[in-house]
Amino acid sequence: MSNPSILILPGDGIGPEVMTEVRKVITWFGEGRDIQFDVSEALVGGAAYDKHGVPLTDETMAHAQEVDAVLLGAVGGPAYDDLDFSVKPERGLLRLRKEMDLYANLRPAQCFDALADFSSLKKEIVSGLDIMILRELTSGVYFGEPRGIFEEGNERVGINTQRYTESEIERAARSAFELAMRRNKKVCSMEKANVMESGILWREVTTRVGKDYPEVELSHMYADNGAMQLVRAPKQFDVILTDNLFGDILSDCAAMLTGSLGMLPSASLGAPMANGRPKAMYEPVHGSAPDIAGQGKANPIACTSALRWRCATALIWATRPPAWKAPLRKCLPTVPARRICWEKTASTRFRPAKWATPLWQPCRTASNPRRPEIKRPCLKRPCAGFCRARERGRQRPLFLWLHTFFCGS
Ligand code: IPM
Ligand code: MG
Repeated sequence: MSNPSILILPGDGIGPEVMTEVRKVITWFGEGRDIQFDVSEALVGGAAYDKHGVPLTDETMAHAQEVDAVLLGAVGGPAYDDLDFSVKPERGLLRLRKEMDLYANLRPAQCFDALADFSSLKKEIVSGLDIMILRELTSGVYFGEPRGIFEEGNERVGINTQRYTESEIERAARSAFELAMRRNKKVCSMEKANVMESGILWREVTTRVGKDYPEVELSHMYADNGAMQLVRAPKQFDVILTDNLFGDILSDCAAMLTGSLGMLPSASLGAPMANGRPKAMYEPVHGSAPDIAGQGKANPIACTSALRWRCATALIWATRPPAWKAPLRKCLPTVPARRICWEKTASTRFRPAKWATPLWQPCRTASNPRRPEIKRPCLKRPCAGFCRARERGRQRPLFLWLHTFFCGS
């Protein structure tokens, strides 16, 4: 059986540095568990523009179509702000999404107790939060025609078009209902049916699809109300289904409820390929964070989680016999533990002053019997280690890292 193939696209800003950590995890799979991936790497975004004059070459696009999964870091940065729109770094990302037809973008927002203090909302509002946003990713105003800046009389007019076909809405809705069936069986669909015809169609199609999932409770909400409800009482939601633009905005809002945009992975999935697996691209939710790029401060957890969360799991699950599952279930969460402990790790963005101190500490091993609290970062009691450390007022960053890595996908 051939190895699953991954195309790594580090991109810009902190993308390359978080991807360096991902590479270590992939190496660990090979050396530590004899699970090999065929890894290739290419440029995207500003990095691709600098070398090739375009944010994504045709060769890279063709290669992305062939691999089992694409892992993307981040694109964009102030250096590229003045580029022509057609070659801006973001165009590379959008081309990947469109041409791979990655219509279902899964953006989880989970808040673990140990991180609840970092949210800008009260702890009781966010603690235990577990939402999944299903953002339609290949249509809507991001891609609708006509678009452009045109002359009209003696002034210019900027035009973008919100356009959705029934089938585009239907396939996104089905993905949301399928997700809900594996979760708490609730879908809230968000649009602006009060002012947009595309919203009316969205509501109609979603309602129709919902009839195929009688166990799932479907509700509809105007997207502006949805934004308000997300910060008022986010735990009322299970799966949120929404379009490309509203999904972009609402998913940033939901991610921030968890304390930081910087810790969450996302998956963009398309139609099944010949081998039955969906086309897939995995990304951290965070962007290129140019303000901290190159300083060794970027937290790679979102990106390594993107690898671990779905990419590695799905690929290994799909390509290995069932007997592999038990050992993998054990090893997947522990993959980066020693790495994170021993390698140079870095701060996250939300406590720069505190976290800029040297963070890495040896975890407990036979030769280093200290740190008993992280001997077993236990999935069942995920906060134990972190909270104990916090009570003692020390090692907060390390424990937070470990906590998030073990529990935060
Ligand atoms: C996102 C980003 C992208 C988007 C940008 C980088 C094109 O904000 O993935 O949320 O708007 O979709
Ligand atoms: Mg966004």
